[in-house]
Amino acid sequence: MRTTLKIVLPLIVSVGSVSLVFAGYQVRNQRRILRNDLARRAEILADSLQESVERELGRGQERSLHRFVERYAKREHLKGIAIYDTAGHLLAITPGLEPALPLHPDAVTKAIHDDKGAGEFLRPEQTSAPQVSDAVPVHAYAMPLHRDNEVAGALLLIHETEYIDLQVSHTLRDALLNALIQTLLISLLALVLVRWTFTEPLARTAKWVRTLRTGQPNPPPALLQGEVMEQLHHEVTHLARDLHSARAAAEVEARLRDSNASLWTAERLRVSLRDRLQDQPLFVVSNREPYMHVHDGNKMIKMLVPASGVVTALEPVLLACNGTWVANGSGSADREIVDAHDHLRVPPDRPSYTLRRIWLTDEEDKGYYDGFSNEGLWPLCHIAHTRPIFRPEDWLQYQRINQRFADAVLQEMADVDSPILLAQDYHLALVPKMVKEVRPDARVAIFWHIPWPNAEVFGICPWQRELIEGLLGADLIGFHIQSHCNNFLETVDRALEALTEWDRFAVSRQGHVTRVRPYPISVAFPENSRPDVGSVNAGALREVLCDEIGIEATHLGVGVDRVDYTKGILERFRALERFFELNPGYQQRFTFVQIGAPSRTDIERYKNFLDEVSSEADRINARFQTSRWKPIVFRKKHHSHEEIARFYQAASLCMVTSLHDGMNLVSKEFVASREDERGVLILSTFAGAAHELSDALLVNPYDIAQLARTIHRALEMPEQEQAERMQRMRHTVRQHNVYRWAAHLLSDLTEIRIELVERVGA
Ligand code: G6P
Repeated sequence: MRTTLKIVLPLIVSVGSVSLVFAGYQVRNQRRILRNDLARRAEILADSLQESVERELGRGQERSLHRFVERYAKREHLKGIAIYDTAGHLLAITPGLEPALPLHPDAVTKAIHDDKGAGEFLRPEQTSAPQVSDAVPVHAYAMPLHRDNEVAGALLLIHETEYIDLQVSHTLRDALLNALIQTLLISLLALVLVRWTFTEPLARTAKWVRTLRTGQPNPPPALLQGEVMEQLHHEVTHLARDLHSARAAAEVEARLRDSNASLWTAERLRVSLRDRLQDQPLFVVSNREPYMHVHDGNKMIKMLVPASGVVTALEPVLLACNGTWVANGSGSADREIVDAHDHLRVPPDRPSYTLRRIWLTDEEDKGYYDGFSNEGLWPLCHIAHTRPIFRPEDWLQYQRINQRFADAVLQEMADVDSPILLAQDYHLALVPKMVKEVRPDARVAIFWHIPWPNAEVFGICPWQRELIEGLLGADLIGFHIQSHCNNFLETVDRALEALTEWDRFAVSRQGHVTRVRPYPISVAFPENSRPDVGSVNAGALREVLCDEIGIEATHLGVGVDRVDYTKGILERFRALERFFELNPGYQQRFTFVQIGAPSRTDIERYKNFLDEVSSEADRINARFQTSRWKPIVFRKKHHSHEEIARFYQAASLCMVTSLHDGMNLVSKEFVASREDERGVLILSTFAGAAHELSDALLVNPYDIAQLARTIHRALEMPEQEQAERMQRMRHTVRQHNVYRWAAHLLSDLTEIRIELVERVGA
């Protein structure tokens, strides 16, 4: 009520004041008009009488003058007439008028003197009898009279003016009444609007927030439309979701403390990093950005989360601890979204960290990204039998662009003492050295997201020394698994004059030590589904998805990959073909959905591979498909995390058949999304994830017959066995989640700083 009054009272005062000023103006105006009107009427009347009076005056008979003043005095508001000689003596006057006259009216003197009409308004006290109780205000108008062309006197008309005051007072009364009614109406309206637009929705929201505070996650109240309320609604809904997550996290922490287990959560990572970094921001640099803005064709800008292992892994870490992520702004609308410093706060609906974009020309991108990174290093590091191509011009671009990334990082960390940098992947192998040369106080780690081949294979690269030197600028190099670390140390041994310390897995070179460690990357394991979503029923979801796709099937399989020749997609399809040959009973019952995000399509090998995958799916479909069913559905487009999650949750099996893979997060995402503890994971032994997920059905993707048998085994697996395997895998992924990955990597990195400080002090 007090708030409403605070809004409504000033409104009443201001509307009332405006109305009063307006009423005053109206009254003044009316008085002026009425007085002017009276003055004009007096003038006209005097004018019309002048001639007759002059005639009577000419005759010199006092009696006729008296008759005249009696006869003409009966006009509206005319109190009477008087006639004066030039000396100002009364010659004749309407009976009873005398008290209303001043002894010597100024108007008469003026008219005689100036020989022209003169008028004045007289207040009661200016008349000859102000002491008389019925003295009233009057208007006097005098007109000169002539005889023989000489001024011979004056005619005076006295009008009463009381009626003017009366009319003005009526007008004043009406205007005040009007102002009062207007003020009341506007205030009432304001009162209703304030209550309707603000007070009640706010009260409802407050009530909702109160129920949330007491731990009952109710759906938000329906609010009225309107920008302000919608914004508030949006923010409060997020707040409620955060509150819910915080509460869930606190519960998990409490449960963990209770069970003495040590699970890493976003919250625990945040607290741990806050202690370790002492509120310093974390710097991350990668080629791929976590959010991309593109034009969608209708001059609108839409946001995409790229299909990328780096993004999947690092986004939860940045969300947990504020920081800056430097990346290549590769979206067509990226430049339109950043500020003057190429910065952008993300995620857009819950800004938690800063994205700094850097810009590359097409030519630079072609040399650095398509050429050296993806036609050179990518096939070099993956045993997938695609020949690496190394061009000197690509290498030049690679060095230039690495320097550009390093410069951007140095600029971002300029004001931070002993900053921490987490560089990512094979695109940026030279960045650690470039940063360390300028900022020896920085603690730098680089994580290599793809396999590291054996020394002989890596030796193919004409610039292996430069690449290794670039990497050794880091204090810590992370790989997914131990064998990649071993391969790296062997490569260093062969390529450089450096002291390789196998006992503590480190390389010493020119007084600088680089540690090499395995950190198996992972995903953020969702603790429990949101109560407002409810748990997913795989069967019902499968029916919905089959409807959407336009097929009939009782079992779905799923594969989710960037369309890349290392992923074993063709092998997978051929195994499916073999499976349907061997098990015709599964035809028209089992469909495999391949979600394939087109990737690196500016590279010939990738473009061809995309076509190859499409035509292989078409060929197999042509063999088996019916009007309502087909064996393979190839969805060749980018899918959001939410869209992919629905397929994971509905599938009877998920196939990850990489020919070679650093880790492969799809396998872990599938496991993390199966809250129902059902579904079978078929996993290549050549993916890093196979080291942790031994309860998957492990396969050699080159062995098509074995793969076909495994698909059959997966579809036939009893629910009990599915549950037991899935429970164990879920336990592993839950324990070894991405927060643990980040915590271990960053805690090793921050400890290195302590050693450095000691060494400097020694
Ligand atoms: C692999 C690499 C990542 C990369 C991802 C997507 O997972 O290890 O570094 O982000 O592929 O590749 P793209 O070329 O699309 O960034």
